[in-house]
Amino acid sequence: MPQPEEVVFPSRRERLEDRRKEGEHRKLLDEFFDHPALLAVSRLISRGMFDSIDFPIATGKEGGVFRATKGNEFRAVKIYRISNTTFRHLPAYVLDDLRREASVRNFGGLVFAWTRREHTILGRLVEAGVHAPRPFGHYRNVLVMQFLGTEEGAAPRLKEAQIDDPQLLYTELVQEIRRMVGTAKLVHGDLSPYNTLFWEGHPWLIDVAQAVPRDHPQARALLKRDITNFAKYLERLGADVDPEEFFKAVGGEAVGPPTPET
Ligand SMILES: Nc1ncnc2c1ncn2[C@@H]1O[C@H](COP(=O)(O)OP(=O)(O)OP(=O)(O)O)[C@@H](O)[C@H]1O
Ligand SMILES: [Mg+2]
Repeated sequence: MPQPEEVVFPSRRERLEDRRKEGEHRKLLDEFFDHPALLAVSRLISRGMFDSIDFPIATGKEGGVFRATKGNEFRAVKIYRISNTTFRHLPAYVLDDLRREASVRNFGGLVFAWTRREHTILGRLVEAGVHAPRPFGHYRNVLVMQFLGTEEGAAPRLKEAQIDDPQLLYTELVQEIRRMVGTAKLVHGDLSPYNTLFWEGHPWLIDVAQAVPRDHPQARALLKRDITNFAKYLERLGADVDPEEFFKAVGGEAVGPPTPET
């Protein structure tokens, strides 16, 4: 088995023009792959989750997503940073729920619970027939999932994708969200053209860790916001969308805490 360092930093060519790029790449990798992260990566490799990490697809304050190779397939590896910036942008209800379900006090524990949660939710979505990356496994702050993209690179976000038929996209989004709400019984809570990829001509929902059960006290308001975000985007593309109908079409009326019997 290769050493973790060899996996993350494959032998670098010494060609001059590559040096600068490699320098930046290296800096980024050094930032992510501290010793504990390298150990987590090597644990996942020994479990056969992937053979090597290829390059970063996207990196941000909360973590990074990398393309990985497994045999002749690709996978996506999401690594959460273990720092309080991970949760800085989260609304209080999400953090409260997480603390309750994880019953941990330290930060690392919360990040691990968050990673596990994303894995579980992705699994529920795939099972419900929603277009979302299939989860393969997780360990500590590292999640391995289906890679959405081609040999050429990762699939674009809806925001940047070329959409030829906005009305069809609307119909497909209704279908995805209706399955998420009706079958998986979850509300995403952070849906937008940024958290949706356009792959093989269809929308795929990603970034799901903050999803809540559809009977959660906040679920209805969150779904309303998700729908409003998409409605604005679709209208800008030229689709004919009525936000209220959109909300009803995804099963929004059934979302929210059960009303007490009178
Ligand atoms: N399974 C995947 N296949 C291909 N690309 C992916 C996959 N998952 C995520 N990405 C890419 O990585 C980016 C960040 O992923 P994601 O939204 O899950 O992470 P995040 O930490 O919430 O980042 P951000 O704060 O930018 O939303 C996505 O916009 C997408 O470009
Ligand atoms: Mg995101």
